[in-house]
Formats: sequence, C-alpha cells, structure tokens
Amino acid sequence: MRSDVRIAPSILSSDFARLAEEVARVEAAGADLLHVDVMDGHFVPNLTIGPPIVEALRKVTGLPLDVHLMMTNPDCFIQEFAEAGANYLTVHVEACPHLHRTVQSIKERGVKAGVTLNPATSLSTVEEIIGDADLLLIMSVNPGFGGQQFIPFVLQKIERARQLIDRTGSHAVLEVDGGVKVDNAAKVIQAGADILVAGSAIFCSDDYRATITALRQAGHSALATEEAARPHVGRPR
Ligand code: DX5
Ligand code: ZN
Repeated sequence: MRSDVRIAPSILSSDFARLAEEVARVEAAGADLLHVDVMDGHFVPNLTIGPPIVEALRKVTGLPLDVHLMMTNPDCFIQEFAEAGANYLTVHVEACPHLHRTVQSIKERGVKAGVTLNPATSLSTVEEIIGDADLLLIMSVNPGFGGQQFIPFVLQKIERARQLIDRTGSHAVLEVDGGVKVDNAAKVIQAGADILVAGSAIFCSDDYRATITALRQAGHSALATEEAARPHVGRPR
C-alpha cells in the first residue's frame, strides 16, 4: 500500500541566474528530490543543461538529483552524469535501442536507473525491463518545455503503469512529469503515482513552501480516500 507522496521540483522553470538560491528555497520548502531536465536539441526541440550544471548542483544541495535525460544516445553521457553526482538517471525508451544494456550501464555505476515514455509510447515497451528499473517515469506532456498542459489520456496510462509495477513485484517508483498542478495532483496520485514532478506550478508561484505543501496534501488526501475505500475484511478498524 502506498503511504508516501514525494515532490520533485523541476528546475527548468527556475531562475537559472539564481540557481543555487532557487534550489535552497525548494529544499527548505520541503522538496524530496530535485528534477533536472537535460535536453539535447535533437530528441526534444530545446537545449538546457549538461553534466557541469549537475556537478554544480551536487555541491549546493543534499537532495537526490533526479536527472531526466531527454537526449539521443544517452549511453555516451552516463559516465559523466554519474560522476557529476546524479542519483537517478532516467532515459527515454524511444532513444534507447538497447534499453537493457543502458539500464545495466547506469546501475553498474551505482546510480538508480529510470526509464520513461512519451505520452504516445505504449506502456508495453517497458514490460520486459520493469523488473530491472528503479524508477518508471510517465510523461504527461510531450517533453521539451515547461508550462504545458497535462494530457488527460495519460491518467489511464498511469493506472496501468501502477498495475504493471504491482503485478510484477517491481521495486520501481512511479513518477509523473508534465503539467502537474495543485488542482490535478490528487488525480495523479489516485491513478498510482509515487512522485510528482512540478516545474511551473512551484517556480511560478509566489510561495514555494505553500505550493509544495498543497501538492503533497492533495496527494495525501487521495491516498486517504483510497485507504478508506479498501475492504478491511478480518482486520479490526
Ligand atoms: C518537460 C520536462 C518537465 C517540465 C515540467 O519536458 O521534462 O520536467 O519541466 O514542467 P511543468 O511542471 O511546468 O510541466
Ligand atoms: Zn522532466
């Protein structure tokens, strides 16, 4: 049974000129992980950050660095990102013809391995690897930019991803990324997510602590509703 809701602010929507300060603010505001969006201008139509920034972040925060690699040929950079201090390295199945090898290569470096899917990519593409993955990331926008709208059909996919993890006994945590806001966080948690990535919802708000707390509370209320609806046969209430 799930009891935890973790919040991963995506620094994509932060003020890059004051990055250390922004990170300190979300850390003090109760963030659980720091989501770092790496974009290569090929896999997605945007360019962001690389290993030197991850290394710089590592020096200013104790939060786990959840590095989302939106790039072709991520294998070429696994070593660099691992050395830079990434805790999770998440690759896109669309960019990895030898996904099993890529996942093993991440894990061999002592880093947790995540796999992720674009909204239109079938969940069946991760069925074989789910037992090896430490994290499954379901994209709820087409990756490339912050501030996009959550794509509604993805909710069902999150439900099926939860079922896949539970059915197979995978230890992977389920993370959802894109368009997550306070007003849809409960639905996303209800569908099965463990970790909510939120960029613009947090960094475009006036009060990071209030927003992170509201996201977490929305999730907790969804879990409480789920728990209340569970049959308690044979157990004292
Ligand atoms: C999208 C990125 C997301 C993005 C989320 O390509 O992978 O992590 O920063 O931003 P919001 O929460 O604003 O959709
Ligand atoms: Zn991301």
